Amino acid sequence: MMIMKSIPHPIQYQGSKRNLAHVILRYMPKNVDCLIEPFAGSAAITIAAAARQLAKGYLINDLNRPLAELLRLIVEFPVDTASFYEKVWNEQHGDSVEHYNRIRAEFNRTQDPRLFLYLLARCVKGSVRYNADGMFNQSPDKRRHGTQPQTMRTNIYGVSALLKNKTGFSSLDFREILAKAEKNDLVYMDPPYQGVCGDRDSRYLSGIDHEEFITALIELNRREISYIVSYDGRRGDKTFGMLLPEFLELTRIELEAGRSSQATLLGRDEVTFESLYLSPSLTAKLNHQPSDYHQLKMQQYALPEPHLEYA
Ligand SMILES: C[S@@+](CC[C@H](N)C(=O)[O-])C[C@H]1O[C@@H](n2cnc3c(N)ncnc32)[C@H](O)[C@@H]1O
Repeated sequence: MMIMKSIPHPIQYQGSKRNLAHVILRYMPKNVDCLIEPFAGSAAITIAAAARQLAKGYLINDLNRPLAELLRLIVEFPVDTASFYEKVWNEQHGDSVEHYNRIRAEFNRTQDPRLFLYLLARCVKGSVRYNADGMFNQSPDKRRHGTQPQTMRTNIYGVSALLKNKTGFSSLDFREILAKAEKNDLVYMDPPYQGVCGDRDSRYLSGIDHEEFITALIELNRREISYIVSYDGRRGDKTFGMLLPEFLELTRIELEAGRSSQATLLGRDEVTFESLYLSPSLTAKLNHQPSDYHQLKMQQYALPEPHLEYA
């Protein structure tokens, strides 16, 4: 068995759940056949679950095709993917901003996922931005050169070792993925944040409609599927997005997700919270497992430190 000092993360991605993964996974039941992530992003939850061997198989989906394809290349072709990154990374010496802009134009033309890995490593905080035509338009972080090739290689090999031969990849709308879920699977959903500007969110390639999402959850309840949803957030007194309705009979857990760096800069001391919702079938399953295994009785879980590293 491979012993890893930390959980590998090749992809920098805004909204990644890597720092909360160990808390979220407390609510994962035993003996899961397949962990399904319809809104996988950087697949932080899948990677963390695989590191703990929590499921027999994994399904990674994201509507953003180059992103889902990049995850597949990392898992199935780690050597080539790491070498390609190293080559592109080494070419940036000289005028690195000009180099970034050239790679970005090439990515927008070809949609080559391997170029996307470099752009995500080099752009500001891994935060993807798209214009109305779906073109990636985020600027480079001028103070950093992106993950060193050797570190990237270690992360890529680590993820491949965890997920190879047990993971499926796709780039479909989340509803098509939900249709595949079975009773022994667990679905983890982290949909795009609800912005103020309706369902078009420049932060991700596509947003989703709140009502359509709720309709999908009603259907999952009817099929008795176990699922977890990360939804909404609040900072201080401010709530972002809508809560999920009571008739879904979800168990809501509030996670303290750390301090907002923006508020700290402005001298405000505000803590960000995130809600986790557990489906009725999942809650029933967890209630039948030993009580020290999960934290259902505790409705609130506070992390001692933001940005915890995995030991
Ligand atoms: C909040 S991010 C997920 C972040 C992820 N939990 C992580 O740890 O990196 C939401 C993701 O949903 C994807 N997405 C948006 N609309 C979608 C849809 N209709 N079906 C599937 N994925 C979608 C976006 O491309 C984005 O990567």
